[in-house]
Amino acid sequence: MSAFLIDGTQIAETIHGETRSKVENLKQRGIQPAITFIRVGNDPASQAYVARKDKMAARLGIAAQTLVLDEQTTEDALFAIIADLNGNPAIHGILVQAPLPPHIREQVIFSSVLPSKDVDGFHPINVGKLMLGAIDGFRPCTPAGIHELLIRSKIPLSGACVAVLGRGNIVGKPMAAMLLQKAPHADATVTVLHSRSRDIAEHCRRADIIIAAIGQPHFVKANMVKPGATVIDVGVNRVDDPASPRGYRLTGDVDFEAASQIAGAITPNPGGVGPMTIAMLMSNTVRACENLCA
Ligand code: GUN
Repeated sequence: MSAFLIDGTQIAETIHGETRSKVENLKQRGIQPAITFIRVGNDPASQAYVARKDKMAARLGIAAQTLVLDEQTTEDALFAIIADLNGNPAIHGILVQAPLPPHIREQVIFSSVLPSKDVDGFHPINVGKLMLGAIDGFRPCTPAGIHELLIRSKIPLSGACVAVLGRGNIVGKPMAAMLLQKAPHADATVTVLHSRSRDIAEHCRRADIIIAAIGQPHFVKANMVKPGATVIDVGVNRVDDPASPRGYRLTGDVDFEAASQIAGAITPNPGGVGPMTIAMLMSNTVRACENLCA
């Protein structure tokens, strides 16, 4: 491997340190930041994600509670719970873990969280603020974490050609919006590629930065990477592996072994983007608390 390894675990720890000192400042004023996680059903990946977020909150002195709701929970019941949390001044952040069961309209639920408590950045007000380049909204945690990784690793962004693989609302679309802003640490030329795009490999080969959030194991091969480019792997894919005790293993969207021979900088997976998502969530939660208790 010749590429520089972008250590998300270490950068996330630095951010946690910054968050912890803000938590301390709030505590001196008698305030404790608090977040509520809502999980509907028993999706095993969601279970693991929420448990990880809950544990990190506790580590940083943020009060956290997780509400686990039955798979059959109605939209109305979920609305009532969110309305209660919206009105509770002791709760500063509300996170409804996606995916939700198919009978629940995800976007309608996200829109019911008070924008000032929407630490996920999924409410249309916060999505709109991101598009407008306003800095006072909440930004979705995974793309915000990738942005921080790029900035703190001193990867040049102004004028850079960026290929974003994936156009989802959680990663691809907000990622593109962040990088193309006319602003410091942005000003990139962004191409968003998706399942209907032609010549994906060619677009990637032109890119100074590839951000892979396409949900396909090892989609990004070495021959799609320009020598010296930065490669960010967002993928968390389950692939069957009878040799593993769980019967599967997790793998990213990038063929790391091969791509790391060509790239200039690359994220490991795990240990790249994942820890940054949690770091941004904690940071958003403390900012929500600061705003609400100002
Ligand atoms: N599911 C996958 N990523 C996320 C996220 O960042 N927030 C929520 N709420 N659900 C998710």
